[in-house]
Amino acid sequence: MLKIGALCLAQPTVLAPMAGLTDRVLRLLMDEMGGCGLMVSEMIAAEGLRRRNRRTLEMIVGLQTRTPQFIQLFGAAPEPLAEAAAIVSAETAFAGIDLNMGCPVPKVVRSGAGASLLQDLPRLAAVVAAVRRSTNLPLTVKVRLGFSQVNVMETTRIIEAQGADAVAVHFRLKSEGYTGSAHWDLAAAVKENLRIPLLGNGDIMTVALAREKLQIVDGVLIGRGALANPYLFREIAGQATEEEDLGVYVRRLGDLIVEHYPERKRLGKLKAFTRFLLLSRPGARSWKRRIFLSQDFMEARAFLEETFPCR
Ligand SMILES: Cc1cc2nc3c(=O)[nH]c(=O)nc-3n(C[C@H](O)[C@H](O)[C@H](O)COP(=O)(O)O)c2cc1C
Repeated sequence: MLKIGALCLAQPTVLAPMAGLTDRVLRLLMDEMGGCGLMVSEMIAAEGLRRRNRRTLEMIVGLQTRTPQFIQLFGAAPEPLAEAAAIVSAETAFAGIDLNMGCPVPKVVRSGAGASLLQDLPRLAAVVAAVRRSTNLPLTVKVRLGFSQVNVMETTRIIEAQGADAVAVHFRLKSEGYTGSAHWDLAAAVKENLRIPLLGNGDIMTVALAREKLQIVDGVLIGRGALANPYLFREIAGQATEEEDLGVYVRRLGDLIVEHYPERKRLGKLKAFTRFLLLSRPGARSWKRRIFLSQDFMEARAFLEETFPCR
C-alpha cells in the first residue's frame, strides 16, 4: 500500500495536477467513477492564497469526496509558500500539499516559480524546508528531470532531506515541454536513490503501461491519459468498463459544468475536458468540427451525447 506521510492510499494511482482541468468538476467526476488513489488540484498561486484573492479562493472551495485531494501550490519564494501552506492546513479540508517545481510556462518560470526552482538548488531546498515547518499535512513535491540538463538525482535527494513525504517526477526536462517521450529509463535509478516514495509521471495512457511502471515506482501520476479514458483509474484497479460508460461520463460532465460554471465559461470548459477524449478516438476530425468549432454549449453538449449514447 502506498503511504504518503500518514495518509494511506487505497490505490497507487494519482490524478496529476492540470491547470484548467483538475478543477472541482473533474475531481468530482473522477471521485464518482472510482479507482483513483489521490487527486491533485490545479496549480494555485501561493501569493493569491496569502492575499486571499477572491478568484484564488473560488478555485479551492471544499469538495466532499471519498478520494483524498491534495492542493498544488506554486510560488517562487519560501515565505509566501509557507504562509499559503499554513492557510491550507488551518482553513481547508485538503488532505495534503504538493509543490509545483515543474511548470514550464514562460510567465511562471520568469517569476521564479515552477521549473525555475530546478535551476536554483539552495532556493529549492529553502522552499521545501519552509513549507515543511509550516504544515504537518502530507507534503509532496513535483519536479521534472531537470531544467535543460538532468539533475533529478540532486533535486529529489534535497527534497527528501528537507522533509517531503514523497516526490513526483515527470520524466521530461523543462526544455522538452510536452514533446517527445518521457524518459522512463531513468526511473529505476531515481527510485534507488530515495527512501521516500517515488511517484512516476509521463505518457501513461493504458492499463498495461500503468502496471508496467508500477513495477518500478511506488505510484503513478496520470494526467492526459485520465482525460482520454476517464475510466483508466478504475480499469487499473481491476474493474471492467463498457464503451457505453462514456455515455454516462459525458452526461454527468455536462451536468457538473452547468452546476459549477456560469454560462459564459461552459463551452470552453466542455471543449477542454473532452479534447483528449475525442482526439484519442477514430472520428476525431469530424468531432473537431462539431465540438471544437462550436459556438454554443448546448449544441456541443447535444452532439457529445449523441456521439456517446447511453442505454
Ligand atoms: C493542460 C495541462 C495542464 C497542466 N497543468 C499542470 C499544473 O498545473 N501543475 C503541474 O505540476 N503539472 C501540470 N501539467 C503537467 C501534468 O501534471 C503532467 O506532468 C504531464 O501532463 C505529463 O503527464 P501525462 O503524460 O500523464 O499527461 C499540466 C499538463 C497539461 C497537459
